Amino acid sequence: MATPTDATSACQTNTILKEFKEFDDTKAGVKGLVDCGIEKIPEFFIQPQELLPKSSEVAPPSLQVPIIDLEAIHKDADSYKQIVQELKQASESWGFFQLVNHNVPKALLDEVIKGIKEFNEGNKDVKEKLYSRDIKKKVSFASNLNLYQMSAANWRDTLNCLFDDSLDPTDIPLVCRDAFMKYRENLLPVAETLYELLSVALGLPSDHIRGMNCAKTQIFVAHYYPPCPEPQLTMGTSTHTDPSFVTFLLQDSLGGLQILHDDHWVDVTPIPGALVVNIGDLLQLASNDKFKSTKHRVLASTRGPRISLATFLVPAFDKKKPFGPIKELLSDKNPPLYKEVLATDYLKSYVSKGLNSSALSYFKL
Ligand code: OGA
Ligand code: NI
Repeated sequence: MATPTDATSACQTNTILKEFKEFDDTKAGVKGLVDCGIEKIPEFFIQPQELLPKSSEVAPPSLQVPIIDLEAIHKDADSYKQIVQELKQASESWGFFQLVNHNVPKALLDEVIKGIKEFNEGNKDVKEKLYSRDIKKKVSFASNLNLYQMSAANWRDTLNCLFDDSLDPTDIPLVCRDAFMKYRENLLPVAETLYELLSVALGLPSDHIRGMNCAKTQIFVAHYYPPCPEPQLTMGTSTHTDPSFVTFLLQDSLGGLQILHDDHWVDVTPIPGALVVNIGDLLQLASNDKFKSTKHRVLASTRGPRISLATFLVPAFDKKKPFGPIKELLSDKNPPLYKEVLATDYLKSYVSKGLNSSALSYFKL
C-alpha cells in the first residue's frame, strides 16, 4: 500500500507530466514561453537543489581547457609529434580541447550560428511541422529530447539533423540548409585529421580509427538557449557525457559551457573561430578508458539567446558490427573493461536514461 509520502510524490510526478505535456503540445518550445513575457519560470524547469551549480565547485578562472593548434601539422616531424603529444595529454586528462587553425573558415561558422538563430526566430509553422521526439526522424525540432525521462526540463530548444547516406537535404529547414551542408563538408576532413592524430596518440597505425568507420553518421544537435528570467533555478543543459565517438562543438560568444575537471567546473571560454572537441562515450569505450568522456553542462543565463551546434560523430547505425575496446590495445595487463555493443543500442540506452548519468556503466564488464 502506498504511504502518504509515496502518494504525494506520485501525485507530484503526475502534475509534472501533465505540465510537460501541455508545454510540449504548444510545439513552441522555451522560446514560446519567453515570447509570452514570463517573469517566473514554470515549476517543471526548476532543478532539484543538488543538481544546481554550487559556488564551492567553481574552478579558478586561471584553469583553462587545453588549446590544440593544428597550424604546424604539416611543417615537420617534430611539430607533428608535438601536436600528437598535446592531443594525447588533453584526451587523457581533460577529455576536452579547443581546436584552432582547423581550416573551417570563420565566416562559415558565423553563417551556421546565424542559420540556427533564424530558424528558431523564424516561421512558427516550419518549427511546428518539425516538432517531434521520434528519434527515427532524420530532421526534427523539440525542446528537451529526453523531456519525459528528466526530473526537470532544461532551458533550451533543439533542432536535430541526422546526416547519413539516406538524408534528403531538402528536409533541412531552408534558412540553415546551405550552411549545414557546407559545414559538414568542411568538418569531415578535420575529423579525418583528428582520427589520424588520435590513432597515433593511442600508439596505433595512423589509419586505424579511420578504418573503424566512426564518422559515418553525423548527428547535428543545434541548440537555442533563450534568455532565462530565473537562471539560478534551472539549467541550459544538465550534466551529461556525450554518446558519440567524438563531438565537435561550435558555440557562439556568450559562454556558459562548463566541464568537470578534478571535481571542479571549468568554463570553456569562447574563442572566436575555434571548435571545441570532446571525447565521447564510444571513444572512452574503444580506448578502454585511456581517453575520457568528460561530464559537462551549460548554465542558464539572463543573457541570450545563446546558440551552439554539437556534431556527434558516430559509427554507422545500420551496421550490425559490434563496437568494443580496440583489440590492439588489450593485453593481460590491460584487459577489456567493456562488453561489445552496437552503436545503435548504445544510443537507445543513452536516450532512455535522461541526462545526469552516463550510459557507459551499463556496458562495463
Ligand atoms: C551537447 C552539449 C553544449 C552546448 O549538445 O551534448 O553538450 O554548448 N552542448 O550547447
Ligand atoms: Ni554534450
